[in-house]
This record gives sequence, structure tokens and C-alpha cells, in this order.
Amino acid sequence: MNISLNGRVAIITGASRGIGLAVAHRIHEAGGSVMLTSRKADNLAEALASFSSNLDRVATATGHVGRSEDAQHVIDATMERFGRVDILINNAATNPYFGPLLEIDDTRLQKTFEINQASIIYHCRAAYNAWMKEHGGVILNVASIGGLGPEPGIGWYNVTKAAVIHITKQLAYELAPAIRVNAVAPGLVRTELARGLWENGESEISAHIPLRRLGEPDDIATICLTLVSDASSWMTGQTVVVDGGTINQPTGGVG
Ligand SMILES: NC(=O)c1ccc[n+]([C@@H]2O[C@H](COP(=O)([O-])OP(=O)(O)OC[C@H]3O[C@@H](n4cnc5c(N)ncnc54)[C@H](OP(=O)(O)O)[C@@H]3O)[C@@H](O)[C@H]2O)c1
Repeated sequence: MNISLNGRVAIITGASRGIGLAVAHRIHEAGGSVMLTSRKADNLAEALASFSSNLDRVATATGHVGRSEDAQHVIDATMERFGRVDILINNAATNPYFGPLLEIDDTRLQKTFEINQASIIYHCRAAYNAWMKEHGGVILNVASIGGLGPEPGIGWYNVTKAAVIHITKQLAYELAPAIRVNAVAPGLVRTELARGLWENGESEISAHIPLRRLGEPDDIATICLTLVSDASSWMTGQTVVVDGGTINQPTGGVG
């Protein structure tokens, strides 16, 4: 099946690099128009330069996802530029704290909550009011396999990702049938966000992944493309794990 997104418009948050930029390229190749967003205009200019054709179908807007007024600005800019918002991909996230849950300071606790979790409500609400309420649409949230169980060090980030998985279920329930809402849960992917987790000891980490390598942004992007297309038109409220088999391993339990 050839996936076509001709005539559709997608907003991708955190699209200046990594998974977000890879998803934007896949959607653009499939004929869609893409609005790339992130905090920094310089990063977005670099991302824009990675597109070599059909530049009329690519635009950028700066915005901090953890601020509702910035989310509104991004949706307004998309409506102004392309006149519609068919697809919203809530991808941007942060992980400013590594350590036990009860030792996190309030500032980083709040920041992680705002950027990873509240941001999804800000963007969905603005896209809903501007376009999807009347015309329908597709929302895709980027969660993490960390949201599926406990892990050392990145516990608070993982709590916010568990919330992303639940927000996906709740919104899918509330917005059906006109709007589909799904999520993708990547394992460890070679990006800046996760550099601290893979840079030292990649071969050791890879040895523990059944498919024996880290994920690349495009491993996630191809699945995202399917999830936002009509190929997934009878699917909502689900989280698709893409992790090289990381969580599909013996538990070590007895019996
Ligand atoms: N990499 C992994 O191993 C992995 C695993 C599981 C899940 N994920 C998830 O995948 C998603 C993408 O992460 P990635 O690994 O591709 O990260 P990345 O390469 O570091 O890219 C992050 C993007 O988000 C933007 N960004 C950061 N903070 C932002 C904010 N407050 N407001 C708006 N944009 C912001 C960055 O651009 P600016 O700096 O210009 O703002 C950049 O475009 C995240 O939801 C992450 O949790 C990643």
C-alpha cells in the first residue's frame, strides 16, 4: 500500500532534529505539508535547509511547547500558512533530571510536567478549536517504553510518559469518531535527547537489545507515518512500541 498524505497538513513539535525531523520528512515525502516547530529559530532554519524540494509544503514556527500561548501561536501560524490542521504530532519532550524520584527539585519536576505532559493538552486544545472540532483529524503522541514500567534514574521523565499513554487513551475516547489519537513508544534512539544514555557503552547496550542495535530516528518515523495515515483508520487509543525488542524479554521471574 502506498501511503499518500496529499493535501493534508501536519504540525510536528520538536521537529528541528531527531525523531521529529525524521517524521516531518516522511510526511512531506508522502505529499503532506509540514509545520516544523521548536524553541529556536536557528535550529528550525537548519531543519528547513534539509528539505530540497516542494518547499511550498514546508514552514516553521517557533514555540515553547510548555506554554499554552506558544501552542496557540503555532496553531494560528499553521492556519494562516496552510489553512488547515489535519495532523498534530506531539513529539517535543525534555529530560532535565536523572536520579531518584523523591530527590527531584520542584523546578525540574514542574518543567518536565509542563513540557512532556501539559504541552499535549495545550496543542490538542488549540488544534481542536481551530480545525479538528469541525473537520476531524489525527493526533499522534510520542511516549516512550519508559512509560510502561520502572527504570533507574529517569523515573520522573517516565512518569510523564506514562501520562502521555493515558492521555492518548482518554482523548481517543473523548474525541472519537472524528479524531483518532494514538501514540508511539520508542526504545533507545540515537538522538541528542538520549545521548547521555547511549554515548558511552553503545555496544554493551546494543547487546541487550534483541535486534542488536540502537534505534535510528527513521525507525520511529516510518511507524509514525503509518499511524497518521488512512492505513490506520480503524485504530485509536493505542500505543505502538518500537524498541528493537527491548521490552520483549524474559522477566527473570520464577515460574
Ligand atoms: N531518543 C530516545 O531514545 C527516545 C526514546 C523514547 C522516547 N523518545 C521521545 O521522542 C521524542 C523526540 O525526542 P528526540 O529523541 O528526537 O529528541 P531530540 O533529538 O533532542 O529533539 C528534541 C526536539 O525538541 C525540541 N524541543 C526541546 N524542548 C522543547 C520545548 N520546550 N519546546 C519546543 N520544542 C522543544 C528541540 O528543538 P529546540 O532545541 O530548537 O527547541 C528538538 O527539535 C520525545 O518525546 C522523546 O521523549 C525519545
